[in-house]
Amino acid sequence: MEAEEIKEQKEYIKKVYELNKNKNLKYYILTMGCKLNENDSEKLVGMLEKMGYEESKDMNTADLYLINTCCIRENAEEKVFGKLGEFKKIKEHKDIIIALGGCMMQEKHITDKIKKSYPFVDVVFGTHTIHKFPEDLYKAIISKNKINDILDIDGKVYEGLPIKRSDKKQASVTIMYGCNNFCTYCIVPYVRGRERSRKPEDILSEIEGLAKEGYKEITLLGQNVNSYNGGDGYKFSNLLRDVDKIQGIEIIRFISPHPKDFTDDVIEAIRDSKKISRLIHIPLQSGSTKVLKEMNRKYTKEQFLNLTDRIKAKIPDVVFSTDIIVGFPGETEEDFEDTLDVVKKVNFEQIFMFIYSRRVGTLADKMENQIPEEIKHKRFNRLKALFEENIEKNNEKYVGTTQKILVEGYSKNNTEMLTGRTDTNKVVVFEGKKDLIGKIINIKIVSEHKWYLKGKV
Ligand code: SAH
Ligand code: SF4
Ligand code: F3S
Repeated sequence: MEAEEIKEQKEYIKKVYELNKNKNLKYYILTMGCKLNENDSEKLVGMLEKMGYEESKDMNTADLYLINTCCIRENAEEKVFGKLGEFKKIKEHKDIIIALGGCMMQEKHITDKIKKSYPFVDVVFGTHTIHKFPEDLYKAIISKNKINDILDIDGKVYEGLPIKRSDKKQASVTIMYGCNNFCTYCIVPYVRGRERSRKPEDILSEIEGLAKEGYKEITLLGQNVNSYNGGDGYKFSNLLRDVDKIQGIEIIRFISPHPKDFTDDVIEAIRDSKKISRLIHIPLQSGSTKVLKEMNRKYTKEQFLNLTDRIKAKIPDVVFSTDIIVGFPGETEEDFEDTLDVVKKVNFEQIFMFIYSRRVGTLADKMENQIPEEIKHKRFNRLKALFEENIEKNNEKYVGTTQKILVEGYSKNNTEMLTGRTDTNKVVVFEGKKDLIGKIINIKIVSEHKWYLKGKV
């Protein structure tokens, strides 16, 4: 359902379009952070193009500069300030608009810093006011005033925003916003508000539309997808089963589920589907029960191992990917070894590894037993080495098998060869004709090369 607020914004889109007509204006956008942010940016780009801006990939030739920011770790924030320095130089000799949006803007110490040290920024908006970007931009253009549009609220769900997708075959669909879990290291609940789910009919009609447009692969997005609540007892497993029925969609993925909410009905919905990927992402964070408790993750080492075993028992061809944080406050050598132990036992296909980064406002930031940087880095490298040891062994099991892959295009390193990914996200390189691009085909895997597999059509 399209809210009044969105109708109002569509009027602002028209107004900005009228101002911009025949001016041939361009935008430059930088998106940081997770897939949810990328999906938000697709909406921002949808609005921008309807307002008469065209994309510029060259940083020096735009009229409007937009960064959709992330604050999950310190390095994401540093990058934004670096970019702002570059934008400032451009603004010194050209009349440009600079806009900042997204998670980082929900942090007061950041917006204070921008006001004080980066006064040349024109528009600042947060995660709860993305839909109001046309209005904020219009006001900035007309009045030449600084626009600050940030709300500190639980958040709402808006339907019907324009969207321009960045890919023609794979699409992301946000199913729920916000997070209620308050893991003690994590800033997301503070910047994205409380959990709220889109209505099943809105999600399903979006995916049906995507299927009609020719999309083959869908990723369902949320900070905690398996706490999706569609109302009247309609749960994540119901949504999976309904998405599975949509004709034309051939691969379904979802990120991220929370281990504590990974119930049997979800496992069974995956088992019963031929489309849902057999690569399941389950964030471990730590293998130590003590650290998990301090992180407020609400499961133990044993419960995590029991969960992956339960999934494997029902879905024998499943593989897992995960997120791990090293160097959480108070993590001892013994705790870290528990993490390595889980990594060995589960044999993850992919691990996204992070060094713990202190976030202002979170409980873990106030903990006294912070780990020295040097130890964090050493542990990070040990985890990385253990994982890399396993890659070749993991790859061996593909050789000789036939894999369903979505052909993405020419290989970057060898433009004679095509490339795509298996259902489990392994890169496959093979010889083939151009017209295979965008299709889902069967490939026989002939050899493994650590970072990719070689195949034959
Ligand atoms: N909601 C998702 C992911 C959120 S952010 C989930 O719960 O899985 C993605 C990943 O960033 C997290 O899984 C975690 O591993 C990492 N992360 C979050 N906060 C962090 C911090 N303060 N320092 C380092 N890594 C962090
Ligand atoms: Fe952050 Fe935890 Fe929520 Fe994930 S579940 S977004 S890690 S608070
Ligand atoms: Fe970053 Fe916000 Fe995503 S903090 S990881 S962009 S939800």
